[in-house]
Amino acid sequence: MTTPKPWEHAKAGEGSATDPLAARFVESLSYDTRLYAADIRGSIAHAQMLAQVGLISRDDLAAIERGLGEIQREIEAAPAGPRAVGVAGAWPGWKIDLEDVHMCIEAALIEKIGEPGRRLHTGRSRNDQVALDLRLWLRDEAAPAIHSALSELLEAFKELARRCGPIVLPTYTHLQRAQPGTVGAECMAWWSMFARDANLCTQQESGEWGLLASPLGSGAVAGSLLPLDRAATARALGFAGPEMSSIDATASRDEALDFAYLLSRIAVHLSRLAEQWIIYGTTEFGFLKLGSAFTTGSSMMPQKRNPDMLELIRGRSANVIGSLTSLLTLCKGLPLAYNRDLQEDKRLLFAAFDTTLDCIVMASRIVASAEFDQSRIDAAGGGLDRGYLDATALAEHLVLKGVPFRTAHQIVGALVRECEATGRHALSQLRVEEFNAAIHAAGYGRVVVDRSVYDVLNPRNVAAAYKSAGHAGTGPLGYRDWLAADATHRELFEDARAAAERSVRHAGADNAGAPTVPAPGAPASLFGADDHPRDSAARRSTDAALIAAYQQTGRTLDDLPYTSEFDAMHAQLQSAGAGLTKRAALQRLQNLRKAGKLPPAGRSASAPPRISEDEESLLRELVIAMTGSLGQRDQLPYDPRFDGLVEAFNQQAGRELSPHDIWRLVAKLAK
Ligand code: ARG
Repeated sequence: MTTPKPWEHAKAGEGSATDPLAARFVESLSYDTRLYAADIRGSIAHAQMLAQVGLISRDDLAAIERGLGEIQREIEAAPAGPRAVGVAGAWPGWKIDLEDVHMCIEAALIEKIGEPGRRLHTGRSRNDQVALDLRLWLRDEAAPAIHSALSELLEAFKELARRCGPIVLPTYTHLQRAQPGTVGAECMAWWSMFARDANLCTQQESGEWGLLASPLGSGAVAGSLLPLDRAATARALGFAGPEMSSIDATASRDEALDFAYLLSRIAVHLSRLAEQWIIYGTTEFGFLKLGSAFTTGSSMMPQKRNPDMLELIRGRSANVIGSLTSLLTLCKGLPLAYNRDLQEDKRLLFAAFDTTLDCIVMASRIVASAEFDQSRIDAAGGGLDRGYLDATALAEHLVLKGVPFRTAHQIVGALVRECEATGRHALSQLRVEEFNAAIHAAGYGRVVVDRSVYDVLNPRNVAAAYKSAGHAGTGPLGYRDWLAADATHRELFEDARAAAERSVRHAGADNAGAPTVPAPGAPASLFGADDHPRDSAARRSTDAALIAAYQQTGRTLDDLPYTSEFDAMHAQLQSAGAGLTKRAALQRLQNLRKAGKLPPAGRSASAPPRISEDEESLLRELVIAMTGSLGQRDQLPYDPRFDGLVEAFNQQAGRELSPHDIWRLVAKLAK
């Protein structure tokens, strides 16, 4: 290696090429060949722009396009694979002394087509070229690969939930037994985590400050005196536009940092999964059996089935986090703009990408192979009835009987101590009198429990009795709704975002400057949004139909429930195929009103009847008993609970008011 590199003209023979160690030290070809497709694509867009503005001829462009096309085909046909360097069967154009992917491809082009090839680098530097290649690779290759691997993992969790969902197991906090849960709920938890990662992936793919802007045309640092059309190359390469500052565009690696963070977060999530399932697989727990392909034996101990694959997922997360830390450290001391330090970004990023992708794929296979075993779980740790998993459920049972939660907590605490002192391991072993004695001792003698208390005890009963959206049990609003919704994570996030917008607007309208609170009366649903449809375009058109139909009723929204106008409106929507129940239709309208999207329409056609103060407080109590608070009253119309409320009110007040009148009164109750 005694000839200078083709671009080192000023140094005339004294350069790194004269020292083999220096040549090896400075090269990035050994790891950057995977940018070849991005590099060629960028070069073609650049050449087309050069021809467009008249800096090269149409013939030059044709030669460049043909040459680069041939080079791409040669690279892809290399027997050792497109990325292999310096081994038999590698593409011969990969020459280490040319340093990197960019110079190798350019040199091969010049060798192939001669002078036109020497015009390609007009108005360009390797600094904007490599920044571009990295973004193209991230956007078109890396992010989609991670995204699709994550989609498979998400599906594997759904599949596991379908297979093993109802199996009851303990949930833990502090790794101490907490409350009963289900395998389905655990799957929903992991799914939520990885769905967020997939969503972050999407955000990065479309991020205005990252993968949406093109660095090409920034040159080495300060731009070019030539009339480059940066907007044209940006458009041709699928960017929203050119990066604003040529200095920043060549100096920044923020898109690499963001992606390395995404990979690290995925790796951390995978590591938590691995840790959890390693514990689940121990003899002590025994909750879980992994497919035998994903365990290994011991060279010495014949009985062993070690969870090595999970351990490696946990272990390799360290490498990925290490890459992120290295990248951050790499950038922190760099003056503007490009410095050769930045060449190391690819080594780190590619390694983190390969490792994370491998780990996601491996995790999907492991999840698909996992078998939870209810009988082992029932027996583990002395039995599922150990650890007082139902203690919180008992406290909440007392709350429903009117005991303040703090007192209920104290009562159940005393009952647990009572069990421990008398050699009983479960609350269900206590007698009814013992429950009542403890309630009495806490000063709530007017509350008594009967034998029905046993129905809320023991883990399986509790798992079936959870009510709050997103709970860990088996009933409605838990994992079954998630499985049944069968929405993609994007749709769920859209729903969540729409719900958040509603609540923000609502809080803003009510109480400017106050902290954001969820919109009261948001319908009870696992995803915090309307029942259906999930598709947002369909949602918008349903909303438009709803608003139009509502305006025809000529009544205010609070005056509308339980009227013939409402029934007519609903019938009309049904025949138009809206597929909404009366309750859902009204709740959508209420949400539209909260979001400020419902035009004021009509007037109150009826005045609410007069009632006494006592009757008003009775009504207030009934609403609170049924919904938890006055703020939740919008849930009531066309809900079966409202029929009960009408009946209870009329009975206790000796009245015969219609559902419409009672709703008018409820809507008018002051908070
Ligand atoms: N291989 C180099 C990198 O990855 C390309 C840019 C080199 N630029 C330069 N001015 N030496 O960063």
